[in-house]
Amino acid sequence: MSESAFTIFGGTGDLTFRKLLPALYNMSASNDSAADRQIIIIGRRNYSTETYCAKAREWVKQFSRLPYTDEDFKVFSKRISYYKMDFTDIATYTSLNAYYQKRHLTEHIFYFAVAPRFFSIIADGLTNVANACHGKVILEKPFGEDLDSAKVLNIQLETFFNAKNIFRIDHYLGKEMIRNIQTLRFSNPIFSNLWNSRYIESVQISAFEDIGIEGRGGYYDASGALRDMVQNHLFQILSIVAMEWPEKFSTDAMHDAQIRVLRALRPVIDVRESLVLGQYEGYHQEKLVKPQSKTETYAALRLFIDNERWWNTPFYIRTGKKLDRREIKIAIIFRPAFLEKAAQNILIIKIQPSEGVYLQFNIKKPGDTDEIIQAKMDFCQNNYVNKLNTPEAYERLIKACINNNKSWFSQWDQIELSWNYIDKLHELYDWEKLPLFRYKAGTTGPQQANELLRRFGHKWID
Ligand code: BG6
Repeated sequence: MSESAFTIFGGTGDLTFRKLLPALYNMSASNDSAADRQIIIIGRRNYSTETYCAKAREWVKQFSRLPYTDEDFKVFSKRISYYKMDFTDIATYTSLNAYYQKRHLTEHIFYFAVAPRFFSIIADGLTNVANACHGKVILEKPFGEDLDSAKVLNIQLETFFNAKNIFRIDHYLGKEMIRNIQTLRFSNPIFSNLWNSRYIESVQISAFEDIGIEGRGGYYDASGALRDMVQNHLFQILSIVAMEWPEKFSTDAMHDAQIRVLRALRPVIDVRESLVLGQYEGYHQEKLVKPQSKTETYAALRLFIDNERWWNTPFYIRTGKKLDRREIKIAIIFRPAFLEKAAQNILIIKIQPSEGVYLQFNIKKPGDTDEIIQAKMDFCQNNYVNKLNTPEAYERLIKACINNNKSWFSQWDQIELSWNYIDKLHELYDWEKLPLFRYKAGTTGPQQANELLRRFGHKWID
């Protein structure tokens, strides 16, 4: 009898432990039949399935959404097998094929939870595995290391796998509040009618992380904040915030609307007025980081979307590691009111860790006075019950892949356009020999990022 396999390349990596195993555990603990497959963990380390599962147990305990129970873990771990192999050695794939055949594993989902430079070699290796080409593949971002490598990779993958079976993951698209942006925008006339440059002065997208690179120096040092976060996660958010109303709420219509935003990105002319890069103090001491590395761990950008809706409304984007907090939010800053003393209205979409919506507006101070003060309405939705009921990003996306739903995955043309923008930005930055600003861990990043906005009369909403 043939069975289905979910194979993870990079099975001993941080992503697998922190995100993938907890997601698969949650699916198993909630009796989701979509997760009813054998989980094959590929890793180089000398583990047995038992030692691997003992490690997995600790990570699941720490990171799963649903409470850990011995009973649920027992059911879940019965489906896990550890397979030791060096996935960069093509010769080993013949043995992998024999292993699948012995276990009658013929229907495949492959998860490439490895640095992008390994995608191509794994895809090559899989040509030695029967039925692999009919299987599905989930690729972690970033897809490629720049536009050229992404193009080569895309051709290679689409030659081997069927294009409809390639799932390019961007786990931000699985986050609850990112999925909520459309509803918030389009089902509330109080927002949808004002969602344009006539009423909106600027938009800010901030993704702060308090952690550093967590032992991922090998990958991160060749990547940096622009490639690791902006090209994918933050451009996805940008295009959902800025897109036109999709004709239908269908996958294709939404992609088309997002693509139109990326196509309308104004080419950068003056990089000094558009980009600030920083690096946290102590980055050079991180494992696998080059001693003189110029890789940025912080980026702040100012960009424009040249279409009628957003004409001359700046979009500010910033992200960084080792900052003073872990927080992702989108701030919509409305144009000032006619009354001089009234503050600007601000709408904040809170993505993480708190999920919700914050609205700031003006009211008269209670009492015998005409003073104007700000009312701050703060709606928060991630209470304990909602958290238990809301699948996490990876859980949603793995399930969507199993169910052939491609709505919330990155599409090739989006990737191509965003690489194009980021590559050019990098080139200009290097060409102008702009400095990389140091910042202390536990701060909001380099001061120069504040300057970037101050020059234009704006400031970050913190
Ligand atoms: C990953 C990046 O895609 O996203 C990491 O490679 C980053 O560097 C992570 O830490 C952040 O994800 P989240 O879900 O914790 O915001």
